[in-house]
Amino acid sequence: MEVEEIERLIRISKERPLMPETYIPWQLEPATDDIFLPETLTSLQGLEIYGTLTPKQKLELGRHELVQVITSYAWGECLFCLFMTRHILTLPLDNVEHRFLLRELIEEFRHQEMFGQAIAKLGGSPIQQTGIHKFLGEFSNKYLPADYLFMGSVSVELVTDIYGNHARKSPNIYPVLKKMFDLHNIEEARHILFTKSLLKTYAAKAGYIKRTLYSYVILGNILFVRTMYVKPEIYERIGLENPDKVYKIAAKNFKQKFAEKCLDDIIDFVNEWKGFNRATRWAWRWLLGAKV
Ligand SMILES: [Fe+2]
Ligand SMILES: [Fe+2]
Repeated sequence: MEVEEIERLIRISKERPLMPETYIPWQLEPATDDIFLPETLTSLQGLEIYGTLTPKQKLELGRHELVQVITSYAWGECLFCLFMTRHILTLPLDNVEHRFLLRELIEEFRHQEMFGQAIAKLGGSPIQQTGIHKFLGEFSNKYLPADYLFMGSVSVELVTDIYGNHARKSPNIYPVLKKMFDLHNIEEARHILFTKSLLKTYAAKAGYIKRTLYSYVILGNILFVRTMYVKPEIYERIGLENPDKVYKIAAKNFKQKFAEKCLDDIIDFVNEWKGFNRATRWAWRWLLGAKV
């Protein structure tokens, strides 16, 4: 990316900051027909069991799953901030990349606080990450080289961006959440622009093996995010019998939905630098249900 273009992004971030404190109408309580997550994004919609739920159960399902989604965002962003803080130490302070990443860090910290406040507003009780999620998240954050971590971050940003878009465009979404997703969408658009162009330079230099590894890092990150949303505890909370059984069909249902609704942008990105090949394509199809 040209230096002037990065300077422009820095300028927008400084001149038009979106403060969650004032941008989001925190004082508004949910109206009677407000929802928290579009039905199509919930794990049970599309299954027979969904038709047996009461309106109250459907609403609660959306509330708990939305809390899970934003909990995962906040955790992922916190991990990313850890990495970025280490990464900017390797760049001089007057370096334009360093300065952009400082703006990104500032914004990401605000996002995490905003997600936390939204969870509190919804009276949510997030379910903690599994041990394997924690281990993989922290291990990869510590030991993967910068280009791989940027690959991982852009894939998560692209996926969450689409998710947020579905939510904020839903007509009866609770206004606090709509504004939260609006804010996130605007600021993440700049992060994505920057990271994508940074990665294009990395990918342009990469040979077959490195492109294969990049592709796997992205796939792993998406799989990682997708498996943090759907939880058996939620079915128990909304009063369903056999939550573990429900979980099995819900996870399958959600995998298919996620593949249909959330993967287009990331597939385009991976395609741009030929990240689909004989060694990666089968895994994308098998693990993510992607049509590649
Ligand atoms: Fe963010
Ligand atoms: Fe970001």
